[in-house]
Amino acid sequence: MKKIDITASINGIKLPLCIMNASGVLCTTDQELSNLLNSYSGGVVTKSCTYKPREGNISPRYFEWNIGSINSMGLPNLGINFYLNFLEKNKINKPIFLSISGLSTEENYLLIQKANQSSKITAIELNLSCPNIIEKKEMLDCNFDGISNFIENIFRFNKKPLGIKLPPYFHDIHIKNMALILNRFPIFFVTCINSLPNGIFIDVNKESVVIRPKKGFGGIGGSIIKPFALANIHKFYTYLRKDISIIGCGGISSGKDIFEHILCGATAVQIGTQFMKEGVSVFERLKKELIFILEKKNYSSLNNFKGKLKNLQ
Ligand SMILES: Cc1cc2nc3c(=O)[nH]c(=O)nc-3n(C[C@H](O)[C@H](O)[C@H](O)COP(=O)(O)O)c2cc1C
Repeated sequence: MKKIDITASINGIKLPLCIMNASGVLCTTDQELSNLLNSYSGGVVTKSCTYKPREGNISPRYFEWNIGSINSMGLPNLGINFYLNFLEKNKINKPIFLSISGLSTEENYLLIQKANQSSKITAIELNLSCPNIIEKKEMLDCNFDGISNFIENIFRFNKKPLGIKLPPYFHDIHIKNMALILNRFPIFFVTCINSLPNGIFIDVNKESVVIRPKKGFGGIGGSIIKPFALANIHKFYTYLRKDISIIGCGGISSGKDIFEHILCGATAVQIGTQFMKEGVSVFERLKKELIFILEKKNYSSLNNFKGKLKNLQ
């Protein structure tokens, strides 16, 4: 039987498997990160960190149902020093993506400076799109002039491979504008997409919302958001410079979902809600399911079909 290659190269960063965790899901504590290092996951993405530790929002702040999840975590994390120390203490056997999410531009500069001092971090994933911060005053991800200045300043000092985690955009012009900005900088990758902001889920028996913060409003993940993830990936794939890789994230719960993300142009993928539901065994299952599809289609690598989604004639 033909050997099937499902490794990935994110602008030269080699992943032994194109599947990894999404930031924020089971990647906050020592134990969770150790589990990920010991799993089949092709890389480890850390919980988005701030400079100081944060408790996050009041509980219950996460809820899942058959086709989705809603969360308003509010960035609970142990602070950047914890993640840098964890990486120093442990044997690193795969690429590490340090996710950072400062609450202000100045905090983001500080976090990126700190990340630059660690030799254990393979790349920085800059989360510009967290929808659940109560104290947040501005949304940089929708402020195109602001984002352009911000990224320009980052590349005055940043030497690490850096990617940006983007929110879902719902209009072609927003994706085009964002891609035009990103194309001006030596960005390694974008991750599409973060949770869909401002959803609500209702418990009909109780006639109430299911999470406590922000009167029940939260970010939506899981199968229900897959069409939006695919659309964002495919549009960014057409507009971005070809050397900027896309990491697909959103609505993956099967090998078929991964196939679809790659067909739209993703180089690698991240698993959020389904990882929360299933734990670390999800990576091995998805790997098997993806290989099964490639075998059936007689493909030997992801590049055989990456970005090749067809239009109807
Ligand atoms: C509980 C939870 C916490 C999350 N925390 C973060 C985070 O800290 N940083 C981030 O970039 N995304 C965070 N996300 C968003 C996920 O990384 C992912 O983009 C989103 O859930 C869509 O993927 P999915 O459909 O596989 O869940 C979080 C999602 C969930 C469910």
